[in-house]
Amino acid sequence: MRPRKRIAVLISGRGSNLQALIAAARDPGYPAAVALVIANRPDAAGLAHAAAAGIHAIALDHHEYSTRSAHEAAIDAALQRSGIEIVCLAGYMRVLTPWLVGRWSGRMLNIHPSLLPAFPGLDTHARALAAGVKLHGCTVHLVIEALDDGPIVAQAAVPVLPGDTAETLAARVLAQEHVIYPLAVALLAGGGKPALPDESASLVNPLPGKIGRL
Ligand code: GRF
Repeated sequence: MRPRKRIAVLISGRGSNLQALIAAARDPGYPAAVALVIANRPDAAGLAHAAAAGIHAIALDHHEYSTRSAHEAAIDAALQRSGIEIVCLAGYMRVLTPWLVGRWSGRMLNIHPSLLPAFPGLDTHARALAAGVKLHGCTVHLVIEALDDGPIVAQAAVPVLPGDTAETLAARVLAQEHVIYPLAVALLAGGGKPALPDESASLVNPLPGKIGRL
């Protein structure tokens, strides 16, 4: 069996996608292992989850660095020290400079809570509701200099249901984030064929036969 790719996960908060990646990597056949977690906030809840799972987890508080470049240099040094091969941004709420993006070109993923290229940026669920879309979802993409842009690796769509709030829609999307992030990492790590969703499934909402008055 090929050695598992060493991945780092960068977080700023809750860390539920981090937990999904940790859970996926418990399978010995999974082609990647979470070797390092870095948070830019010492109070990021995900740090404790990672430490509890026995993963090296560190806070590099951006407030303690005089420039963005100095902070990123510290992140990059930590990644190099741990022999990291793939970097996963998972709710990492700092915009990266072209320098760090360039260093990890083709080896850095991000998860975004919309079907890109729709709704880049913040408040994606409220904006999707306001736009009246019937399908919403999430995207894992390779990171390039432009924010929330770059080659798409995986997407999942969910229906927007009557009565949805930004919170109910976010929860439905988040459940799919936890499916596609491990899938995308497995695809990039390149080991074996990951369990793919039913390739014949089509995503249509509203369901045929359930269409009321628009
Ligand atoms: C997720 O919705 C992700 O798509 C976005 O930030 C959120 C992070 O959630 N980039 P978590 O910290 O992984 O729970």
